[in-house]
Amino acid sequence: MSDIRLCINIDHIATLRQARGAAYPDPLEGARLCEEAGAHGITVHLREDRRHIQDRDVYGLKEMVRGTFNLEMALSDDIIAVAKKVVPSQVTLVPEKRQELTTEGGLDVAGNFSRIRSAARQFRDIGVGVSLFIEPERDAVYRSREAGADYIELHTGAYCSEADEWGGDLGGTLPPRVQAELDRIYRAAEYAAEIGIGVNAGHGLNHYNLKPVLSARDLHELNIGHSVVSRSIFIGLAAAVQELLAIIGGR
Ligand code: PXP
Repeated sequence: MSDIRLCINIDHIATLRQARGAAYPDPLEGARLCEEAGAHGITVHLREDRRHIQDRDVYGLKEMVRGTFNLEMALSDDIIAVAKKVVPSQVTLVPEKRQELTTEGGLDVAGNFSRIRSAARQFRDIGVGVSLFIEPERDAVYRSREAGADYIELHTGAYCSEADEWGGDLGGTLPPRVQAELDRIYRAAEYAAEIGIGVNAGHGLNHYNLKPVLSARDLHELNIGHSVVSRSIFIGLAAAVQELLAIIGGR
């Protein structure tokens, strides 16, 4: 059995609901199915524009999620206020731009250091774990620990894009561009372990590109969303979750 935990990001269940302004599909129902299928937790991103997850979803999830409830959020006073009312198990601070399709790039920890440190302190004071979504770079890892975060979440997006574009056998020799992105993740995880900050990872992961990431040192938790919700259209949500759990368990 692997000790790497899998949290499912269910934002895009809400995306489908919001596309019609309907009452379905219900993200809470999705969360229940994911946890019943063996997921260790649920992640949602409460965006400032509320394009998918709504405040009522977050309060509902807080009541029903049995495992880790990880709330992704920007460093905005409004969202911080909601998060402090909800008290999830963990917050993951992410950069957020209105026009982006999804989170692009990691947090600029150096450029926002005092705001991040202040937010981290506020959350830790109420018993909420703090993770920072960062590029797999040494300086960002170091500054995250200095800012008082419990975890970093390594942005796997660049690796996933390279791997998906290539599409070959990830168990063999990798093209230099894919290997270079993977090595950035490995090096950042190695350094995090050395300086004593926990490591999560996510963004762009799917059942094809996941396996090599599992070799990152002391990986604690994965956050996977878009690919799971996409795959659930064809094989069902429980099967999509179990497929990832099997890959994690078989590493
Ligand atoms: N981790 C973070 C910090 C994210 O912002 C996202 C996207 O919301 C994810 C993980 C999940 O990424 P994906 O939907 O590509 O699996």
